[in-house]
Amino acid sequence: MRITGTGHASMRIDTAAGSILCDPWVNPAYFASWFPFPDNSLLDWETLGDVDYLYVSHLHRDHFDAEHLKRFINKKATVLLPEYPTSQLEDELRDLGFTSFLRTKSDEVHELDGGLKVMIQALISPTDGPIGDSSLWVEHDGIRVLNQNDARPADLTRFNELGHVHAHMLQFSGAIWYPMVYELPENAKTAFGKQKRERQFDRTWRYIEDLKADFVFPIAGPPCFLDDDLWQFNDIHGDEGNIFPDQSVFLTEYAKVGGTNAIVQLPGSVTVLSDGGTTETTTHPTPIDEFFANKRQHLEEMRERKRPVIEAEKASWRHPEVDVLKELKARIEPLLEESIYMAKGVGGPVRFDLVSYDGDEIESIVVDFPGKQVRAYADEKVRYRFKMQRELIEHLIFIDEGDWVNSLFLSCRFSAARIGQYNEFVYAFFKCLSEERLQYAEGWYDEHEKAVDAEDIEFGDWTVQRRCPHLKADLSRFGFVEGNVLTCQLHGWKFDLPSGRCLTGVGHKIRASKNS
Ligand code: FES
Repeated sequence: MRITGTGHASMRIDTAAGSILCDPWVNPAYFASWFPFPDNSLLDWETLGDVDYLYVSHLHRDHFDAEHLKRFINKKATVLLPEYPTSQLEDELRDLGFTSFLRTKSDEVHELDGGLKVMIQALISPTDGPIGDSSLWVEHDGIRVLNQNDARPADLTRFNELGHVHAHMLQFSGAIWYPMVYELPENAKTAFGKQKRERQFDRTWRYIEDLKADFVFPIAGPPCFLDDDLWQFNDIHGDEGNIFPDQSVFLTEYAKVGGTNAIVQLPGSVTVLSDGGTTETTTHPTPIDEFFANKRQHLEEMRERKRPVIEAEKASWRHPEVDVLKELKARIEPLLEESIYMAKGVGGPVRFDLVSYDGDEIESIVVDFPGKQVRAYADEKVRYRFKMQRELIEHLIFIDEGDWVNSLFLSCRFSAARIGQYNEFVYAFFKCLSEERLQYAEGWYDEHEKAVDAEDIEFGDWTVQRRCPHLKADLSRFGFVEGNVLTCQLHGWKFDLPSGRCLTGVGHKIRASKNS
């Protein structure tokens, strides 16, 4: 089996029974904020794209690159489709010209021609990717690989059941806007970033430990930020609170916890797994150490190459003819009417401050969840406030974007302030700005709320429900208790055990009692 690194979460897996290209991403994503790091645009995509199977794990734009798929990927390739609740991924791929689809069943092994076996595990909660994220397991000739991608399953049991995995590809770096965009003092931001960076690594070690593969491939990040406005987010400034550590930092941190089996691939690196998957040989286009020693130079050169691309994108965002308040009213108010769980979860008005083109004026608009209205800000107290250039919202309206997480928020081109805890419902709602998605998410929360998870486990002096109230991680694996606080390592949420209160997000009480 041969694995070619093609950048970010992308790879090409070649076997004697066929080839699979995963998540090819080249063009900038999220308002031209994210670019693949290292640069993969100079690879021979004509050849790489000539494959038997295509796997697009989910619709996040650093995994689903419509322009690239359209131009370079063989339309005769069979798409290995995760089992998602909405048909959006299939619809978008059909629009690009793909016609052959294998609709997989989540957690079921599918046998393809030549003895190639695949299994896709689909995660479908409203907080998984753009309503859906997935991992791909592949087996051929006794060699098994798991491309976990950036998915965060509660555990890896299903993959372990299928036999020892030889190569495990997974995310280790950040892919979010927290804490950088928050209007906080610099030292607080650094402290939160540091915590986040540590938590990302802890989660990664846990998954690695769970699967115990022969080889571990750190993938799916970090992206790089080439616009001058965002340049500070690259991890080249010695900021210990930066949440985007690169693969060389991964190697250092992994060595500290005893990890010796990591394989870092650059775009164009090729790893051949042999001897039943227990031996590897990897070749790189440039020696790894040398590449990372020159990271700043690589980024600076890439920034110059990509400048025209960024400028062209920026020039397309302004639509002064759009009446933002009127359009948001028309789009969002019907959804507020239908929303029960998310509206209740947000629980208050959310304010958007839109900065005019010349930066002189601010128009404040409120999405009032209890009042089910979109209206001008009325000098009231809000728990969440976002501030961004007006043209970003104009563009979202212009292209009729139904997922503001997969566009605006991941762009990091905004600042935010909040009073109190993180509220996942705010972001869940703004990724569901379509009837189909809203209905799905509301239904999911409805079932989730009603599901009684009766099983308990013991933590020292405490008896606690086994499944995390957030997204049901098994707390016997992901939980640890310090004092009276239980932390779930999957997303780092904390719970005060005496009161059951969640210290991280709104709602999500945990059932806990002290043993007598
Ligand atoms: S499942 Fe998300 S913090 Fe536990």
